[in-house]
Amino acid sequence: MKQAIVTGAAGGIGKAIAELAAARGYRVGVLDLDPEAVGQAAASLDGAVPLPADVSDEASVEAALERFGETPDLLVNCAGILRVGPLAELSADDFRAVVNVNLTGAFIAGRAAATRMMRRGSGCIVNVTSVVGIDPSPGSGAYGAAKAGLANLTRLMTLEWGPAGIRVNAVAPGFIDAGMSAPFYADPAVRALRGGGVPLRRLGTAEDVARTVLFLASDEASYISGEEIVVDGGVIHSVLAQLPRKAPEG
Ligand SMILES: NC(=O)c1ccc[n+]([C@@H]2O[C@H](COP(=O)([O-])OP(=O)(O)OC[C@H]3O[C@@H](n4cnc5c(N)ncnc54)[C@H](O)[C@@H]3O)[C@@H](O)[C@H]2O)c1
Repeated sequence: MKQAIVTGAAGGIGKAIAELAAARGYRVGVLDLDPEAVGQAAASLDGAVPLPADVSDEASVEAALERFGETPDLLVNCAGILRVGPLAELSADDFRAVVNVNLTGAFIAGRAAATRMMRRGSGCIVNVTSVVGIDPSPGSGAYGAAKAGLANLTRLMTLEWGPAGIRVNAVAPGFIDAGMSAPFYADPAVRALRGGGVPLRRLGTAEDVARTVLFLASDEASYISGEEIVVDGGVIHSVLAQLPRKAPEG
């Protein structure tokens, strides 16, 4: 049986990834902060293992991997937090907290999984980044910088761990109607405005992201490493289309 650990697996996108991994035959380690939420998320999946842990804490992650028991075939770094506010008013503590989970946490969990995968000579890691790490969004504080760092770290992991048989890729979701963005999109006006600005004319779902993660984990992607796949319905390419311009003459 294939083994997967998903961090942030009690959250909107992480839970969808854990569910799809379980449906594709993985034994899933559900890793997240709150033991109760972890227990509930794991209980809904066949054979899943609850792993309450803090990705920014090395001892906590190490204990979770030991509890999981098996070397993971797949690690998905999906744990993340967002602290919004204009940079000029953002506290250094909020900045550090975001980097600590989104970037340092992925390093800590990635290293813990990779050292085990290296001993076996195979494995796959998928880091969940964001379109905000490609094009910064005003008011998103350290979030985009941390995700851009994670995209770069994905490439470094590929260089250093690829020779040991480990593929590492990233998935950058766009406007996803789930998890940390769900309260924002609960407002129908925001949904219409944001969804209407996407070339595919809809918000993304957690399942859109989960399918891409599981594709990257599959043998179909056996020669893909160091890539960041954007899952955003094309929105990242729509800047020029949204700028006002003069109507063509005649
Ligand atoms: N929802 C979106 O629109 C969107 C868009 C782009 C990227 N993302 C990314 O997708 C991932 C999942 O986000 P989501 O929307 O499902 O949000 P979410 O808040 O529902 O899920 C994030 C999960 O990470 C967990 N977490 C936070 N800190 C942790 C820590 N220190 N250790 C372990 N777990 C921790 C949280 O408890 C939560 O369950 C995040 O990395 C986020 O940055 C989300």
